[in-house]
Amino acid sequence: MILKATASLVCTALLSLPALAADVTYRNDVAPMLKKHCYECHSLEAEAPSMAEFKLDEEKYKKAKVGPRLDTYEHLLQLVNGMSTGAFMRRLDDGTSPYSGGKPGNMHKYLCDKDNPAECAANLAVLKAWVGEGGWNLNRMAARGDVPALTKEQMDKLKLKY
Ligand code: HEC
Repeated sequence: MILKATASLVCTALLSLPALAADVTYRNDVAPMLKKHCYECHSLEAEAPSMAEFKLDEEKYKKAKVGPRLDTYEHLLQLVNGMSTGAFMRRLDDGTSPYSGGKPGNMHKYLCDKDNPAECAANLAVLKAWVGEGGWNLNRMAARGDVPALTKEQMDKLKLKY
């Protein structure tokens, strides 16, 4: 009896996983996470530039310790599949994706409070669900070094639900 109940609980949990992934949205999940962990250096309040402005004078903004704005859906997409395609994935990866060189991206540590790697892993899982299965790729629009350009098939996987 108990076994049966446990088995059905496990089934329910497993069945709800894909549903959970499909339900991840920018508004409900991604924006609140980025607000908590990233806006300090990546928002209008932080006087962060748009991606286009950032590219004009990266050195100036790096010195000021601000990165490109991530505080609206449109600004964020510039770093996912826009002007700086894949930057979001490259900087937040935990070092397990192809072309990560086995090293986490330099913004990965900001995904959680210090000494809470479980939170970093959980938040990364939410972001991966948001981009969609097969959509978390570190490639750029153009090939660079050993890294091939992003393919149309990879790009078609992106979900990025608002
Ligand atoms: C303490 C300040 C700070 C925090 C917090 C921070 N960043 Fe950054 N970020 C920067 C700075 C400065 C740069 C530009 C220098 C560099 O490229 O490393 C940057 C660059 C980036 C880039 C690369 C932009 C590009 O195309 O060159 C991405 C993507 C990024 N951050 C995402 C994030 C995300 C997502 C978070 C939250 C999980 C975050 N950052 C938290 C300061 C910060």
